[in-house]
Amino acid sequence: MGEITNVMEYEAIAKEKLPKMVFDYYASGAEDQWTLQENRNAFSRILFRPRILIDVSKIDMSTTVLGFKISMPIMIAPTAMQKMAHPEGEYATARAASAAGTIMTLSSWSTSSVEEVASTGPGIRFFQLYVYKDRNVVAQLVRRAERAGFKAIALTVDTPRLGRREADIKNRFTLPPFLTLKNFQGLDLGKMDEANDSGLAAYVAGQIDRSLSWKDVKWLQTITKLPILVKGVLTAEDARIAVQAGAAGIIVSNHGARQLDYVPATIMALEEVVKATQGRIPVFLDGGVRRGTDVFKALALGASGIFIGRPVVYSLAAEGEKGVRRVLEMLREEFELAMALSGCRSLKEITRDHIVTEWDASL
Ligand code: FNR
Repeated sequence: MGEITNVMEYEAIAKEKLPKMVFDYYASGAEDQWTLQENRNAFSRILFRPRILIDVSKIDMSTTVLGFKISMPIMIAPTAMQKMAHPEGEYATARAASAAGTIMTLSSWSTSSVEEVASTGPGIRFFQLYVYKDRNVVAQLVRRAERAGFKAIALTVDTPRLGRREADIKNRFTLPPFLTLKNFQGLDLGKMDEANDSGLAAYVAGQIDRSLSWKDVKWLQTITKLPILVKGVLTAEDARIAVQAGAAGIIVSNHGARQLDYVPATIMALEEVVKATQGRIPVFLDGGVRRGTDVFKALALGASGIFIGRPVVYSLAAEGEKGVRRVLEMLREEFELAMALSGCRSLKEITRDHIVTEWDASL
């Protein structure tokens, strides 16, 4: 294989390297995987309106997220169980993110604990939270994340139950026995039993609180001072409630198309959420971002930044920390080029007028 020239190429390498059960878990979407394809396809319904003859000899991609300065609006989404991809798992991801000067979000279901990830060195990190039925577990975990220096909580709100991922059912997916959900090790919740279908779906059904509601967003604010990002908003209605509930930000996400199938691509849902928040809190996006041009399109539609999920686990599988670094570098370079070729020198110069969408005609 020649030199890797784009982020997507890591998927095929990961497929070759990883056991089928692991690759399928990383790659799958829910049910028909319509939304999975749509997350990518929708980006191709947005075209550029580049501006020319603007001096683009200096380009500044830096930005501030919840008060933290980062080098580019490209961040790392939480993806569970990264040691299945590579022995260094979340350690490698944390190091790669900090080398790139950007934010890593650590999953609740990581195979390295919040303390272990903190011990890799300095870096701005957010902690993704799944709310367990046992609220003592949640409160303890949030306190540990705070103490370990995590700067925000990304509260995942689209997973009262696990989406139906058929490959995981067929493969009877479960966490390999040599690994542990490290944050829960001492709490007797660190292992996943084998089940007749997906071991993860059974774990979620047993432990995760289906009754989670907006009042719990308030509750969370009583147990932590950390800002809360609500991850998994897809409508204007919920965006307005999130603002009222005191969210510090919103992540427009469909969980990488792994939860409810036939929800729109996140890039299609973004603008209504942005409009509904009226600039009161920042809106971020994840789902299908694989190119610098995708990053640009999301920002043109009002996102303050994006997160990537699968490219991280695929590049980890291929090359460990080096792979994740390379993914972040390639996206940075592509995004810088997209800015230059459309005449934008800083993020604030990226406007809605720099793109045209297929749905604009019907507005
Ligand atoms: C995820 N995602 C996820 N989200 C979350 O809140 N907690 C988690 O533990 C996980 N775990 C996870 C594992 C894997 C393998 C994937 C692919 C995804 C969802 C993730 O944060 C993000 O929303 C999507 O991955 C973004 O889409 P792309 O970039 O994968 O297309």
